[in-house]
Amino acid sequence: MKNKQYVFSGKPVSYYFGETISRLQQYADPSATILVVDDQVEHFHGHLFKNWRKIIVPGDESSKDLRTLERVVKKLIEFEADRKTMLIGIGGGVVTDLTGFAASIYMRGIPYGFVPTTLLAQVDASIGGKNGIDFGEYKNMLGVIRQPAFLLFDYDLLNTLPDTEWYNGFAEVIKYACILDEQLFDFLEKNTDRALVHDREVIAYIVERSVEIKSLIVQEDELEGGKRRLLNFGHTVGHAVERIEHIAHGQAVAKGMNIASIFSEKLSGLSFAEKDRIVQLIKVYRLPVEIHSNPTDISRYFSMDKKREKQFIHFILLKKIGEAFVKKILLNELNKLLVETIAERIS
Ligand SMILES: NC(=O)c1ccc[n+]([C@@H]2O[C@H](COP(=O)([O-])OP(=O)(O)OC[C@H]3O[C@@H](n4cnc5c(N)ncnc54)[C@H](O)[C@@H]3O)[C@@H](O)[C@H]2O)c1
Repeated sequence: MKNKQYVFSGKPVSYYFGETISRLQQYADPSATILVVDDQVEHFHGHLFKNWRKIIVPGDESSKDLRTLERVVKKLIEFEADRKTMLIGIGGGVVTDLTGFAASIYMRGIPYGFVPTTLLAQVDASIGGKNGIDFGEYKNMLGVIRQPAFLLFDYDLLNTLPDTEWYNGFAEVIKYACILDEQLFDFLEKNTDRALVHDREVIAYIVERSVEIKSLIVQEDELEGGKRRLLNFGHTVGHAVERIEHIAHGQAVAKGMNIASIFSEKLSGLSFAEKDRIVQLIKVYRLPVEIHSNPTDISRYFSMDKKREKQFIHFILLKKIGEAFVKKILLNELNKLLVETIAERIS
């Protein structure tokens, strides 16, 4: 087991890597704690944390809504939760987002912790303090930035994940490697086979390095005025195709990273060879690269992008593997590039 601590806005957050959930009582007092648990995690692993007060929620996006939030708040009142009560979210990004948000608004904020149980939640969603819910069709429309007290990483919980959820998580890991860490990129290339069979040592390295990268970025830029924007690599186009093609987030980000790499070759000098390495890495991690959406439909989503600033989008490009930067691109110019790129790939 490895402990780490990061300080965000003067507040320490403890990370327990390689810990096991059956030791949760080391970090929280069961008599003053309520767990919010993903229903799948309860099904597979609930016996490991039996004697706790629990609120079980379905682990799909529909739980990030006002009705589920209301249900959680009602249960907290029923359990007589007070300002000292700790809320712990045990699940994927849906449950961590919902729990972090509920804890931040209940009685103007109670302490909370996470046990992320998907690869994506371990490497991304649980880190950084951004937690929120959807409002109608608007994703993450209601939210806060507020840090947890602790994060417990139990790699054994990942053993019951469906394959697609592994691939979703790998997409975000590839993103970190592309934007900031050439060594991680090399590691992912060299250890593909071991990663794909979920070798514990390889997964531990991937999670711990990804968590470190995201934590350092958030420490530098908690409110997303600068460096945190780099985390959107592949996401501008990704968010659009996620909605249009009704595909999983990781698959959409993979397609978005492919397009962002092609744009980087055209605009910022990414070499053909490095662009090709990125595409190959995405593919060997069983993720798709080809876009099946109409460029005009994609462009329509750009104007709704939260990262839009007047007529510009803060687009993330690569100079090389491991070195990303933000380029303000005019919406018109971006649309043109997209039409051109997709046409070239079809012809
Ligand atoms: N707050 C952030 O910074 C941030 C960052 C990235 C993503 N997110 C959010 O995260 C959410 C996606 O999270 P996700 O990809 O973890 O998906 P998810 O929470 O929907 O979980 C995916 C599926 O896996 C199941 N599951 C979870 N753990 C399991 C386990 N150990 N074994 C078997 N099944 C398990 C769930 O029940 C669900 O069916 C989105 O809502 C997204 O907006 C938030």
